[in-house]
Amino acid sequence: MKAMMVSMLAAAALMIAGGAMAVDMPSSAKKNGCTNCHKIDKKVVGPSWQAVANKYKGDAGATAKLSIKIVKGGGGVWGAVPMPATPKITDAEVKEIVTFIRSLAK
Ligand code: HEC
Repeated sequence: MKAMMVSMLAAAALMIAGGAMAVDMPSSAKKNGCTNCHKIDKKVVGPSWQAVANKYKGDAGATAKLSIKIVKGGGGVWGAVPMPATPKITDAEVKEIVTFIRSLAK
C-alpha cells in the first residue's frame, strides 16, 4: 500500500513537471484573441506559430515586420485569408508575443 502511494505521488509529480514544461501561448495572446485563429503547432484560420517562427528564422527584420502586421493586420503571405487588425493591443504585448513566436524557431 505504501509503495502504491509512493508511485502515485511520483506519477503526479511527473504530470505537474510535464505541464510546466509544455509550451503554452502567452496570456496576452489569449487576451487579444490570437488563440482563436492560431495554435502553436497546428494551422487554424492562420498559420501555426511554429511555422511562422521557422519561416522567419534568421531574418533580423522580421521582428519589426511581424509586430506591424499584428497591429494592422494584412494578408498575402500564407494564403488568401487576411489577418484582421488588433489596434487595441499594447506595444508590450506585441513585443512579448513576437518574442515568444520567434523563440519557437527550429
Ligand atoms: C481572425 C483570425 C486571426 C486572428 C484573430 C489573428 N490572426 Fe494572425 N493570422 C491570421 C491569418 C489568416 C494569417 C495569414 C495572413 C497572411 O497570409 O499574410 C495570420 C498571420 C499571422 C502572423 C504571420 C504574419 C506574416 O506576415 O507572416 C503572425 C505573426 C500572426 N498572425 C500573429 C497573430 C497575433 C499575435 C494575433 C493576436 C493579436 C493574431 N495573429 C490574431 C488570422 C488571425
